[in-house]
Amino acid sequence: MTDPSTTTADGAARIDALLAAMTVEQKAGQLTQYFYFVLPDTDAALPDPTDAAEQPRQVEAALARGGAGSLLFVTDPAEINRLQRLVVEGNPHGIPALFGFDVIHGLRTILPVPIAMAASWDLETIERGQAVAAREARAVGIHWAFAPNLDIARDPRWGRIIEGAGEDPFLGALVAAAQVRGFQGDVLGAPEHVIAGPKHLAGYGAALGGRDYDEVDLSEPQLWNVYLPPFAAAVAAGAGNVMSAYMGLNGVPATGNPWLLTEVLRERWGFGGFVVSDANAVKSLVTHGFAEDAADAAARAINAGLDMEMAIAEPAFDHLPEAVASGAVSEATLDAAVRRVLEAKQRLGLLDDPYVDEARAREVLRDPAHREVARVAAQRSAVLLKNEGGLLPLDPGTPSIAVLGPLADSRRDTIGPWVFDFDLDETVTVLEGIRNRVGDAVRVEHARGIPVVQREFPSLFDMFGGNRPEDPEGFDEQAELARAVEAARRADVAVVVLGEWQNMIGENASRSSLELPGRQLELLQAVVAAGTPTVLLLMNGRPLDLRWAAEHVPTILDVWYPGTQGGTAVADLLFGDVAPSGRLPFTWPRTVGQVPMVYAHAISHEPQNQGRRYWDEASTPLFPFGFGLATTTFAYSDLAVDRVSVPVDGTVIVTATVTNTGERAGIAVPQLYLHQRFGSAIRPVRELKGFQRLELAAGESAEVRFEVGPDLRRHWSTAARDAVLEASVFDVWVGADATADLAATFDTRG
Ligand code: BGC
Repeated sequence: MTDPSTTTADGAARIDALLAAMTVEQKAGQLTQYFYFVLPDTDAALPDPTDAAEQPRQVEAALARGGAGSLLFVTDPAEINRLQRLVVEGNPHGIPALFGFDVIHGLRTILPVPIAMAASWDLETIERGQAVAAREARAVGIHWAFAPNLDIARDPRWGRIIEGAGEDPFLGALVAAAQVRGFQGDVLGAPEHVIAGPKHLAGYGAALGGRDYDEVDLSEPQLWNVYLPPFAAAVAAGAGNVMSAYMGLNGVPATGNPWLLTEVLRERWGFGGFVVSDANAVKSLVTHGFAEDAADAAARAINAGLDMEMAIAEPAFDHLPEAVASGAVSEATLDAAVRRVLEAKQRLGLLDDPYVDEARAREVLRDPAHREVARVAAQRSAVLLKNEGGLLPLDPGTPSIAVLGPLADSRRDTIGPWVFDFDLDETVTVLEGIRNRVGDAVRVEHARGIPVVQREFPSLFDMFGGNRPEDPEGFDEQAELARAVEAARRADVAVVVLGEWQNMIGENASRSSLELPGRQLELLQAVVAAGTPTVLLLMNGRPLDLRWAAEHVPTILDVWYPGTQGGTAVADLLFGDVAPSGRLPFTWPRTVGQVPMVYAHAISHEPQNQGRRYWDEASTPLFPFGFGLATTTFAYSDLAVDRVSVPVDGTVIVTATVTNTGERAGIAVPQLYLHQRFGSAIRPVRELKGFQRLELAAGESAEVRFEVGPDLRRHWSTAARDAVLEASVFDVWVGADATADLAATFDTRG
């Protein structure tokens, strides 16, 4: 593959020539990204004062006036070509636009939601999934994905927990790098790939109260040790873009924050790509009470290190020419930003070939190999939370199965939030997956029971197919509930699919409760009371309050929002065609009152009483981080370190034996946790520092081996205000989850 990189002399010279020929206005145009909405036929309103009907006209006028750096929200290849032509012909230098889009978990083929992908703890599957997403996106003419979302989320009230990899920086960093590789391929600009745009730099997940867009105050150790590592990993993996966050970080908006965008991102991490703002976040510098007006906002954003403004309407960057004229922004700063944007275009080959092949796009979107990747991803991301009496796997010859609940046959919910270009016709629900798997010999009865909630739950993205109250007229909820219970009573097994409507989670979808919404618990209780063995399937992107279910329902399988092939994959799992192998990427609290709750916390006093800090509830989680059962059992033994005393910068080899002690093959996910006993700063009680996925036949044993090198022991310390590697004594555990108790120690003081 040839690297279309601008590091070649020719490439750089071409950009120099363009810069020399462009006016300041044209340069400002290159730094602007326009939302281009053609709304589906719905009555939903735009989340912005922009007049929905006027918006495309305004943007097209701007394009014809002099081009644009980028456009977002178009996915139709013919439309992309039409707009690209307007852009190319609208500016005298013929510079095409980058087309960007929220390709979060697939474009047409929808993968499980990102938190589910992280729950696979399977970096290859994650990389392959995003490579499929990239291939479909690039085929339709999209050059750049606003993904991956790398926000560490430790408060499940925050709806965007679903978009990231959970609470842990180590897992988060590995998942980040895998996603960047999947999106971008081996080299930035690779064919069939797109630019990755890790977001949202940084700390967005720590919004107070889990309320989206709320204030974020993070100490330096929290930032460096927890929130920044996934971004550092994405930059190290070569991400070509980064998106700045909406909120203020420690008193300075992320989008106007020179420390974040320049000192950390460029100077410390060596990021060479371009930085885009979140939607309208430049103008929001005024809303924050930070910038005086849009002109001031534009100047402060670009001076802080931002290159491109994502603008819903009336870009603040329209003021850049006057800012250059007044000296508020130097020409060198403007040119540096434009150069980065042009470099991205050149790397993608757009300067020579800006259009997309529409016929090929249709072909790529139909590729059956993509569906297979989605199916495997859904199989690997499901987490078995309980399986009392070995109810799973079900016997495919079970004479009758009742498939119940409001999410059992909802295609729209099966694919989850943050999808726009999906095809519901090819989406397989749990009910359909089960029916396809068992055929006519098994009686499969379905009843919805109740809706998820009775009232409309308005979401930011309802215009792209949100949920509405089901059958508002003529739906007799009481009768439907009774019908569901009757169906359960008649069946040999009940499979109940509960959770949240897909639009109750995601952006601007925080919840103040983790309970199953509506009357779903009542439905579950009635089905269990009918006496039929029950499997609870959860569709969710955040942990829910499962205290009752964890005690009374024999089997609980978290399938998340499993994507286009979700129902097929769920059937594969239910009937034992594949073994469940996902593990939780977050701590699962018992109740909302416990949040935030993370396994990597610190202790100060009465360590023996850690589980008893609330008078009304245990202060332990319902399920620990890293937890997930198999349909077999695993035992861990023989933990050993190759030496107990090592130099401060030495590497310790940790080994342990994992044995499949059950009667079926299964996948173990051995995890290594580490703790530094003393030093210049308090360290968490334990932190994940290694994991593997290991397939073991019944009765089989294998040795797992982890290298614990100095990089895994480095941490950011307030005392040094930098990363330190300290001589200390370290505890190490290897086991099935964050409660692993097989322990050893080593000493780095010698
Ligand atoms: C979100 C971003 C997203 C952008 C464009 C914003 O509201 O915060 O994550 O990429 O919209 O859709």
